[in-house]
Amino acid sequence: MNAPRARIIGTGSYLPEKRMTNDALAKLVDTTSEWISSRTGILERRIAAEGEMTSDLAAHAGQRALEAAGCDPKDLDLIICATSTPDLVFPATAAIVQRKIGAQSTKAPVFDIQAVCTGFVYALSIADQFIRSGMSQKVLVIGAETFTRILDWNDRTTCILFGDGAGAVVLEAVEGGDDRGILSTHMHADGSYVELLHVTGGISQGRPSGFDVKHDALGFVDMHGNEVFKQAVKAMGAVAEEALAANGLTVDDVDWFIPHQANKRILQATAKRVNIPESKVVMTVDHHGNTSAASVPLALDEAVRDGRIRPGHLVLLDAFGGGFTWASALIRW
Ligand code: COA
Repeated sequence: MNAPRARIIGTGSYLPEKRMTNDALAKLVDTTSEWISSRTGILERRIAAEGEMTSDLAAHAGQRALEAAGCDPKDLDLIICATSTPDLVFPATAAIVQRKIGAQSTKAPVFDIQAVCTGFVYALSIADQFIRSGMSQKVLVIGAETFTRILDWNDRTTCILFGDGAGAVVLEAVEGGDDRGILSTHMHADGSYVELLHVTGGISQGRPSGFDVKHDALGFVDMHGNEVFKQAVKAMGAVAEEALAANGLTVDDVDWFIPHQANKRILQATAKRVNIPESKVVMTVDHHGNTSAASVPLALDEAVRDGRIRPGHLVLLDAFGGGFTWASALIRW
């Protein structure tokens, strides 16, 4: 008997209400709206409200995906949340989400995964393995971030890039029939590059001397943007080609390419490298900014809801993030 295949039966997303334009940023740091839009393609990003947590964004996106799938939260047998900005050190944000969406009675396992901007595609790949092995039947996979909480608002090289949001999918195990579902996933990492993109500070570094319970130990995003840019294009290009080759498909077979929404120039350079026309690239970076683990599922949900992605389409998800980590998922919609 063939292994079950994981099919996406619903997508959802959520963005906080507050928008921050480039003009507003230009009042905070030495930059201009024109510099930001021409170097990154970003026009605005969303900022979570005070007290609005990653789990709130994740639960909203998850509920919308469940509604789209016509799935009761009580039918879920696994919840995975990809995030680098969890509500708490522990427990996992996925546990908080389980309660917020009313799925706690399932006693289904929940966990977070942390692969920064590659997090959602990593989580999707893990969920796919759970379904292929027969361990899970209905899985909620979420990418959610409140990345603006870890930005240094005095650093013009990073604070202009990121935004908050969440996206989610519901996966279902299907057996037999056509090839609709996740065809393959590929995951990679190279820990040589930790310093090029990281958050300063951290739990195991301990508290600073002169212990002060009020001390804010949260660090800030620190990035060597130029080097990250080059590595991102190279890695996302390679993993896209790997996905197509593994399935005996070519770039002409792809209907929609959804790369991690880091920067419009990265998206364009990656598409060019893989030889995918820009008309097939889903771009949301202009109105979302870089939402890290939320970026791919946010873009996916937008393209599903506006009717671009239709049954039978070949959709290629591709992501890159700190670590470095990078991954792809090839899906027959
Ligand atoms: N406004 C105005 N000037 C800025 C600026 C800003 N917000 N940020 C940087 N600059 C300046 C720099 O200080 C530098 O000035 P200098 O030449 O006097 O030293 C100049 O602009 C060029 O900087 P550079 O870093 O070469 O610009 P860039 O074209 O590489 O663009 C990024 C910078 C950050 C937009 C770009 O490198 C990038 O997007 N990298 C990838 C980041 C990313 O997506 N990371 C997440 C991946 S998961």
